[in-house]
Amino acid sequence: MPTAIVTGASRGIGRAIARRLADTHEIVAVARDGEALRLLAEEIASTGGACRPVALDVTDGDAVARALGGLEADVLVNNAGVGVLKPFLELSPEEWRRMVDVNFTALFHVTRAVLPGMVARELGDVVIVGSIAGRSAFVGGTCYAATKHAVLGFAESLMLEVRDAGVRVSVVSPGSVATDFSPPKDRGGVDWQLRPEDVAESVAHVVAAPRGVLVHRVEVRALSPKRPR
Ligand SMILES: NC(=O)c1ccc[n+]([C@@H]2O[C@H](COP(=O)([O-])OP(=O)(O)OC[C@H]3O[C@@H](n4cnc5c(N)ncnc54)[C@H](OP(=O)(O)O)[C@@H]3O)[C@@H](O)[C@H]2O)c1
Repeated sequence: MPTAIVTGASRGIGRAIARRLADTHEIVAVARDGEALRLLAEEIASTGGACRPVALDVTDGDAVARALGGLEADVLVNNAGVGVLKPFLELSPEEWRRMVDVNFTALFHVTRAVLPGMVARELGDVVIVGSIAGRSAFVGGTCYAATKHAVLGFAESLMLEVRDAGVRVSVVSPGSVATDFSPPKDRGGVDWQLRPEDVAESVAHVVAAPRGVLVHRVEVRALSPKRPR
């Protein structure tokens, strides 16, 4: 079975991606919360799949290289991300740094560890979970939206660099998804949002594209904030 590494797999969208890809892949599940990863691995095993938990901070470049370097991965899903959504003048340096480190710089650490093997084997998918905030702006998004804009520039450049080596680079950009990322009070108790499983389905679709076909960007939105699901 091919192997898929999923970062931010302890909850939310990453967890749903890990569960969905477990139908067709052995999962390497990455996040800091080892206990949540252990429960995910148990759940995947109970449905006949395989999942190896790797408790790891993706902002720690040395730890990422030690844990993931040399792994023969067919799919890498860079999903881990954080959002501190507040006006620029209220953002602390630590909050700014954390968003840049997790949402952007960790892309370097994780992709750098896994990509050489894909290029050598001339096979692989690097999927990055972006956001609609990656091509739009909103109040409270100075840093978060900027990191997601950066994701698009990184992904398109990398795509151009490695496509001829047989490696596909894609970005799946969701709209609002019901996860812990935005607490219910910020969502106004709404029930129109995407579910994490909806985003997972898009990632599975990208990875399942026929060889020779590259789905580089996918935008997934809830149909309408005015229409409860
Ligand atoms: N929810 C939305 O509305 C929405 C919309 C568009 C895009 N997105 C994007 O979707 C991705 C997932 O978001 P989500 O909604 O699923 O958020 P979430 O429920 O808060 O989950 C975030 C995941 O990232 C992991 N993570 C955070 N910092 C980490 C670190 N330093 N090292 C390793 N893992 C780390 C967390 O695991 P640990 O805490 O265990 O480390 C967790 O598994 C993010 O990139 C986000 O920007 C979300």
